[in-house]
Amino acid sequence: MKFFVDTADVAAIRELNDLGMVDGVTTNPSIIAKSGRDIKEVTAEICAMIPGKPVSAETVALDAEGMIAEGRELARIADNIAIKVPLTWEGLKACKVLTGEGRMVNVTLCFSANQALLAAKAGATFISPFVGRLDDINIDGMELIAEIRQIYDNYDFPTEILTASIRTVNHMKEAALLGADVATAPPAVIKSMANHVLTDKGLDAFLQDWAKTGQKIL
Ligand code: G3P
Repeated sequence: MKFFVDTADVAAIRELNDLGMVDGVTTNPSIIAKSGRDIKEVTAEICAMIPGKPVSAETVALDAEGMIAEGRELARIADNIAIKVPLTWEGLKACKVLTGEGRMVNVTLCFSANQALLAAKAGATFISPFVGRLDDINIDGMELIAEIRQIYDNYDFPTEILTASIRTVNHMKEAALLGADVATAPPAVIKSMANHVLTDKGLDAFLQDWAKTGQKIL
């Protein structure tokens, strides 16, 4: 499963990228607002850090024509831009046109299997189902990932399932178990995957025993 980082925090992306943990980056208008930076400037910086790997930048127009124009403008930032459009009828129209031009398109704000089916038919490069926001309203977000995986496999759709709105390490594990192509998560969630209470406990015991030996490695 590919790891995308769901942030515009350049330092956090760099730290994970140095460990080989970054296969792409996703942003949205809320993430750009949180960064406090100019969308083109910060996106260009991220694209340069991970050349050849997709960096999603989101349009904000509501009509297809506007999304297409904004998407083309965002794609000028770098070769590795994936244009993000919302899963609306207008967004699907924009997806069809932009992918027809050979551009990567990430169709976002997906909350149902039928929406994901439409995105695949429109040629989406990525579909972004938001699992955390479904969990927020007492619908199991991971069930949606399983449904989309089955539908895409039934018909060999090449659209990649990009599990989004990930909030917990369990979302990461479940996405991987279900065969999601990609998971995009905040840096803190990715780093938390390394944590285990038994690792900490075991390390503590080893260090206590080591101290008894009086030995040094270096
Ligand atoms: O990738 C989409 C993500 O940014 C949304 O996450 O936590 O705002 O639902 P969240």
